[in-house]
Amino acid sequence: MDQERQRHYPPLPVMPKHVGIIMDGNGRWALQRGRRRLAGHRAGVENLRHVLSAAVELGVPILTLYAFSTENWSRPEAEIRGLMRLLSEALEKEVDELHRNGVQLRHVGELSPLSDILKEKIQAAVALTRHNSRLIANIAFNYGGRQEITTAIRSIIRAGIPAAEVTEDVVAEHLYTADMPDLDLVIRTSGEYRISNFMLWQSAYAEYYISPLYWPDFDKDEFYRALQCFAQRDRRYGGLKDA
Ligand code: FPP
Repeated sequence: MDQERQRHYPPLPVMPKHVGIIMDGNGRWALQRGRRRLAGHRAGVENLRHVLSAAVELGVPILTLYAFSTENWSRPEAEIRGLMRLLSEALEKEVDELHRNGVQLRHVGELSPLSDILKEKIQAAVALTRHNSRLIANIAFNYGGRQEITTAIRSIIRAGIPAAEVTEDVVAEHLYTADMPDLDLVIRTSGEYRISNFMLWQSAYAEYYISPLYWPDFDKDEFYRALQCFAQRDRRYGGLKDA
């Protein structure tokens, strides 16, 4: 930590407005140490605290963290229960400090299958921090990109919007991220090259950074490297460089 504090992170010429992180590799991190998978998730939650501070310090305005996907329900029941408990404990222990540090917590995903108590804790954390503006941290919990788009289509139909008026902007306004910019940068840890149903719509023109580190080892240095790498990318959005 001391070493980290002394390290200098020069300002970058371009910063992403919205960064998504696919936090992968908790299980492998634990197995490598002869520990149970849940110990890896616990270390992952601990790391989440450091990464949220790093995001504030490095000046990232919006961070979306993929914590539990709609596909994660297929994991063993004990692991699912463990992940729910970890989120519940993290909310209980960390929300006040996040609030003091100006972090606005939001949830993206479907709340209804979660237990009432977890739902209430999430809603309370979102309500408490709603006016903060140093960092918006979206927790994607029970989130799936296809589910999100399907939900958006349903709500467009329910609103009675005529087919001819369904534009890309209309679709975007019906997503969980309605008032947020698209993702500029998606980071995935643990060396896997997959999108795994994460923000399919919002990542259409995102840049990708694949970190070899397992999520519990992903630190401020590596976060900064990802931002440096992003600053060097030549984004053309399907157009030409000089156009
Ligand atoms: C991927 O590692 C991680 C998850 C499915 C869960 C992500 C959760 C955290 C980082 C903790 C934060 C969560 C909460 C509850 C706030 P994996 O299990 O797929 O690892 P593996 O690919 O090595 O098996």
